[in-house]
Amino acid sequence: MSRTEIQSPTGAPYAAILGIGSYRPDRLVPNSEVVEAIDSSDEWIQQRSGIKTRRWAGPEESVQMMSVEASRKALAHAGIDARQIDCVIVATVSHMLQTPAIATAIAHELGTDQAAAFDISAACAGFCHGVAMANDMVRGGSAGHVLVIGVERLTDILDLHDRGTAFIFADGAGAAVVGPSETPGIGPVVWGSDGEQFDLIRQREDWRDVIASGEPVMPHLTMQGNSVFRWASFAMAKIGQQTLDRAGISLDDLDVFVPHQANMRIIDAMARSMKLPAHVKIARDVADMGNTSAASVPLAFDRMIQEGEAKPGDTALLIAFGAGLAYAAQVVTVP
Ligand code: UT7
Repeated sequence: MSRTEIQSPTGAPYAAILGIGSYRPDRLVPNSEVVEAIDSSDEWIQQRSGIKTRRWAGPEESVQMMSVEASRKALAHAGIDARQIDCVIVATVSHMLQTPAIATAIAHELGTDQAAAFDISAACAGFCHGVAMANDMVRGGSAGHVLVIGVERLTDILDLHDRGTAFIFADGAGAAVVGPSETPGIGPVVWGSDGEQFDLIRQREDWRDVIASGEPVMPHLTMQGNSVFRWASFAMAKIGQQTLDRAGISLDDLDVFVPHQANMRIIDAMARSMKLPAHVKIARDVADMGNTSAASVPLAFDRMIQEGEAKPGDTALLIAFGAGLAYAAQVVTVP
């Protein structure tokens, strides 16, 4: 019996980020607003994290609303109509329904017609996971254009009395359009996880435990900050270097460094360990925005583009890491 040959999909030779957009919630929250509940001080927070302010979403600024706003800007930047999007990937840990995926509602509101739409959960590393998937989808032929969104409303799962998290986490959204390109615009992803450290950043309990406890209390985010800090400062610089090596890029070729905006001291430690040359522009959005998890890389990247620090055609290293412990990094061309 002869075997029936199945057609294999074929995509574009290369993919690139064609446009970026972001949404910053209206309400700016200075350290002075958070210190009292956690017996802290503006000085301590700035010294230990570099954070001066963060933005917390209001009632109207839902995960969906922030995502749609960021996406519209990304589509405009890319010069792409929403109907050209074949797939919407939303990286988030703060969409409060486990099903259906918020990506489906976002796709619908944007008018993407029949786009495939799903959420991914890789915490702070989610956006870079999404970009890696979109790169493979465009080159593999399963989508022409992919919209990748990183969005969080972490204040919904934040315990404002928890000293280890209340001053760090914040809200916002960023989006990128990934599509076909004649030259390589996204390098190989370096990604992985370390589930042995699953408990270092997590929701305190799952919903069944909440119900069993008889106390309807949101399962808040907890973090063993110092352990995460040591892991990130040490291990992530190596991942950054591996990512450059796999892309065939030297430090001299690099123009822009966009690490996850977790803590200014981690950003500085990574830059030092990687021996980044002085000409490399480094994203430092954490000072104003706090840690917005999956949204932090596209928010910081978009800001650098808007402020002219990252110029079209520049070479940028994106690297994100967090709960899991999951991480992902890639070299990209600035749109
Ligand atoms: O986005 C996902 C990835 N997340 C990260 O990468 C976050 C990584 N971690 C961090 O950014 C840092 O660990 C923090 C900023 C969260 C904390 O900084 P740290 O330098 O690691 O502080 P620590 O937890 O080691 O605490 C140092 C001291 C302790 O006091 P003693 O034992 O030295 O007397 C704490 O009790 O600071 C005290 N402390 C505080 N003091 C004022 C802890 N939290 C606070 C606070 N305000 N909020």
